[in-house]
Amino acid sequence: MALSVPKIAPFSPIYRLKTLIVSIIIFTTFIFVSCAERGSGGDELYREILRDETVARIKELGKISDAEGYLERTFLSPASMRAAELIQSWMQDAGLKTWVDQMGNVHGRFEAANSTAEALLIGSHLDTVIDAGMYDGSMGVVCAISALKVFKLNGMQGKLQRPVEVIAFSDEEGVRFQTTFLGSSAVAGILSGSALQISDKSGITLQEVLRENSLEATEESLVDAKYEPESIWGYIEVHIEQGPVLESVGYPLGIVKGIAGQTRLKVTVKGSQGHAGTVPMFMRQDPMVASAELIVLLESLCKHPESFLAYDDQCGGFTRESLAGLVCTVGEISCWPSASNLFLLLY
Ligand SMILES: *[C@@H]1O[C@H](CO)[C@@H](O)[C@H](O)[C@H]1NC(C)=O
Repeated sequence: MALSVPKIAPFSPIYRLKTLIVSIIIFTTFIFVSCAERGSGGDELYREILRDETVARIKELGKISDAEGYLERTFLSPASMRAAELIQSWMQDAGLKTWVDQMGNVHGRFEAANSTAEALLIGSHLDTVIDAGMYDGSMGVVCAISALKVFKLNGMQGKLQRPVEVIAFSDEEGVRFQTTFLGSSAVAGILSGSALQISDKSGITLQEVLRENSLEATEESLVDAKYEPESIWGYIEVHIEQGPVLESVGYPLGIVKGIAGQTRLKVTVKGSQGHAGTVPMFMRQDPMVASAELIVLLESLCKHPESFLAYDDQCGGFTRESLAGLVCTVGEISCWPSASNLFLLLY
């Protein structure tokens, strides 16, 4: 099987800071080099911090949950706040200067000799989906802190050409407010002020949740969370693979070249009501059948996009190459009124 890393999905409306993701391999290489300079002391640091402490911390974060028996940390929930506090203490332990921004993102800055040079950002999210795996998000935050801690201990900090900032984003999954990337979009400066008025299932607004946690966010103050692009050199994130590809080909690591953007559509198929027994086949308009055909067509479109390209090899402005990683799925159908002998079906 050929390893194909998904390309940026063509229908991507989401532009965010997280578009550039590179693997931890860069850090381990740096650290190996610096450890090698120091001989056996370096090996010890490598084992103690990059392996043992990192794994222990990921496991510790994995136990901080709002739910009994499984991992769940939604935006600014009590468990999220405990996780944020713990992460902040680990950042301080690694020599980072820490603060929490208006959207609850936890930041830690590792100074370099030139403090005005553009910073390298490294981060991931501290919230989780419901019944999450313990590596999702946590790994990126903990690995970044561990890498910097080694730089502090082996005296390499002074040799860094630019400051490094670790950010633990407060919301990536969007479980609580059904709106993804609240944390990183505030940092990217693309979170609109109106988002503060979105409410969760219990009716409490984002702004109120922030206030309950002593975070005063207003439309004006949101701007303060933004990083000016000129102050940033790059962004990298270590993340567990969320698909099965690397494992299936036996690769321990991969470098991501793009990230999937997503478009969610709710489609209504209308038919016409008729008696199941008396409407002849040629006069029927059964939407369930039309829906099934649409689903099969969609599947086929994503499996063989080349067969759907127009004569000029373009598809609505997307080239053959850009369609290579296209994926799709239909996850939910409901029909109404769901009668076996009368049909008027919608989904
Ligand atoms: C520090 O970084 C700034 C911004 O990149 C640059 O203009 C300046 O020359 C650097 N200073 C030194 C001493 O390298």
